[in-house]
Amino acid sequence: MTKHVYSVAIDGPAGAGKSTIARCAAKELGFVYMDTGAIYRTVAYAAIRGGVNLGDPQAVSDFLPGISVLPQWDRNGEQHMILNGTDVSGEIRSPEVSQMASVVAAIPSVRSFLLDTQRSVACEYSVIMDGRDIGTVVLPNADVKIFLTASAQIRAKRRWLELQQKNAPDTYEQVLEEMIRRDQRDMEREIAPLRCAEDAVLLDTSDLSLEDSISAVVSLVREVISE
Ligand code: DC
Repeated sequence: MTKHVYSVAIDGPAGAGKSTIARCAAKELGFVYMDTGAIYRTVAYAAIRGGVNLGDPQAVSDFLPGISVLPQWDRNGEQHMILNGTDVSGEIRSPEVSQMASVVAAIPSVRSFLLDTQRSVACEYSVIMDGRDIGTVVLPNADVKIFLTASAQIRAKRRWLELQQKNAPDTYEQVLEEMIRRDQRDMEREIAPLRCAEDAVLLDTSDLSLEDSISAVVSLVREVISE
């Protein structure tokens, strides 16, 4: 019997190129692309705006039942984040939200609050989902698991070039330092830390072009689909 939906988990540290690679690979394969970092960012943004003390896990937990966090896809396949009925896709990309997203992501109640949202997408659609714990926790039975990485220096340089295009004032050194801090927090947290699943394929993009990285992901998925 052929399967109706396939799921692909792509995990890895910030700036490894997960979102661009996953988005393009999903387009090529006709899959939905889900950026799970965006849902953590939306919770962080909501809490900052609500004046919640993010250093207090209980205060963040108490805040969760009052918010609604929904991913939605437009006709071009672009994911939008809807917070309490409002599209906040632009607001969640600030450096402050980036740091705070990794703080709220370490709170167990935040992770369980967002689990169903992620799993229900994978039940309904063939999906490429990117994040930190997709292959290990969210979709442990994913058809394909990929751990995408690159050296911290290369990841920081890519992120810095992106920020420069937006005329952001950050220096390369600042971006590198923040990236290392965020990696540490994501890897050292007790719950669902960033790590490579045992059955994941490790893909290091340090010396790969974007096109080659996308092709590598598409080939891995096609191999499984055609089995
Ligand atoms: O991928 P990103 O930079 O948009 O993710 C923002 C933060 O969310 C990141 O620091 C780690 C956290 N995150 C997570 O803990 N689990 C996920 N599945 C996705 C992101």
